[in-house]
Amino acid sequence: MSLAPFVSSSEKVVYEMLKLAELKAGELLYDLGSGDGRILIIAAKDFGARAIGIELNESLVKRTIDKIRELNLEDKIKVIHGDFMNVDISDANVVTLYLTERGNEIVKPKLEKELKSGTRVVSHNYEIRGWKPIRIKEVEWRRIYLYEVKK
Ligand SMILES: C[S@@+](CC[C@H](N)C(=O)[O-])C[C@H]1O[C@@H](n2cnc3c(N)ncnc32)[C@H](O)[C@@H]1O
Repeated sequence: MSLAPFVSSSEKVVYEMLKLAELKAGELLYDLGSGDGRILIIAAKDFGARAIGIELNESLVKRTIDKIRELNLEDKIKVIHGDFMNVDISDANVVTLYLTERGNEIVKPKLEKELKSGTRVVSHNYEIRGWKPIRIKEVEWRRIYLYEVKK
């Protein structure tokens, strides 16, 4: 089920999201609804992380795969064509979201169930209602919310 339309985060917002999450080399990031793959690519290329994207739209998945090949990042990035609600994300260190208010509401129980303590969740533009952000940053008139899972 689609929980958000395709709209890309700007590159500036992506860098700020990953900096806010303090993404480190070797960590594993999941982008739930990975669009054209830009978060995955910046996470791998500029932060040295491993990244997994899950995306419903087949043509966006193809576009992402082409870019990963072009940049020789196949060993760092994987993209799954499917619904992120059906993919186990329990090994994540960082999860990125750019969905909608309702999308965040729907994914929230999954995050609460699967993510381990210490996992950072960064959401572009939409808060996760009922969770307390540890930081909020404004970038290009948009808000980025940082959360840390505590169990
Ligand atoms: C607003 S875009 C964000 C794209 C990317 N994360 C970014 O920030 O540039 C949301 C993406 O989520 C995808 N999407 C929505 N619901 C999904 C679902 N249940 N499973 C996988 N992808 C989904 C949409 O197709 C769209 O590409």
